[in-house]
Amino acid sequence: MNEIPVLETAGLERTFHTKGREVKALDNISIKLMPGTILGVVGESGSGKSTLIRHIACLEKPDKGKLFYRGTEYTGRDAAYAGRFLQMIFQDALSSFDPKMRFAKSLREGRRAADDPALLKKLLSDVRLDESFLDRYPGSLSGGQCQRMSIVRAVYSGAQVLLCDEATSALDVASQAMVIELLKELKELYQISMIFVSHDLGVVSQLCDDVMVMKDGRCVEYGSCHDVICHPKDPYTRELLDAVMEVGDEAGLHRHKHQEPVPAPMERDLL
Ligand SMILES: Nc1ncnc2c1ncn2[C@@H]1O[C@H](COP(=O)(O)OP(=O)(O)O)[C@@H](O)[C@H]1O
Ligand SMILES: [Mg+2]
Repeated sequence: MNEIPVLETAGLERTFHTKGREVKALDNISIKLMPGTILGVVGESGSGKSTLIRHIACLEKPDKGKLFYRGTEYTGRDAAYAGRFLQMIFQDALSSFDPKMRFAKSLREGRRAADDPALLKKLLSDVRLDESFLDRYPGSLSGGQCQRMSIVRAVYSGAQVLLCDEATSALDVASQAMVIELLKELKELYQISMIFVSHDLGVVSQLCDDVMVMKDGRCVEYGSCHDVICHPKDPYTRELLDAVMEVGDEAGLHRHKHQEPVPAPMERDLL
């Protein structure tokens, strides 16, 4: 287990000052993203998830703490530097593309190496889009198709790490399920590592290997997805779990329940 993390943050801190108000958006956040794994970051709105992603991508600078890519520190570098190894996938895929540019050109411009038509063809088929989509403009695709195209762009760029910020939150249930399955497949096929941010613990539990639960800029719980879901230690994690169960979205917990059932809320309180 001496593997070097693909991406690591050590004690990241960031406080925002607005109109005399102080918000500690990141409070001593340390994560380790291991090769070929997906780390889920979950928490309610305003807990600091997007701020964490923006710092990892060097779109913001931390007050304190360090960033490492494969053991090399990159704290203080710019977004172009971070763009050599990571790509972001946003909730609104459509607006992340130039509306006047056909996908073929967008994808070519995003690639950091020589064009590789065979790889592009393979990637499109991986995400169940055919090559004719390359001639189309972003506005002509459905939300799910556009999100799949943005995943193709990210992988084709050569990125080793995908930062997905609420990437499935705007999609209907069927498209959401498809994108989750595709991300799992791409992780296996291309050994890509991902940080998957969501307010929905149900979604995270379907996809992620590890999970960090955030609240008010702090990490309240961090561990394997199985441990955190089956044996939540923090009351806030239990609240998130109960919320998932209440809306009847137990399917998301299936993978973990299969290995070990989630105790009923009352039993859990006794653990
Ligand atoms: N640029 C900014 N200026 C001031 N406050 C900010 C800024 N960005 C984020 N915040 C605050 O930091 C906190 C965390 O925000 P965010 O990371 O967007 O949360 P999440 O993505 O979990 O919903 C919130 O209270 C938010 O208002
Ligand atoms: Mg956010």
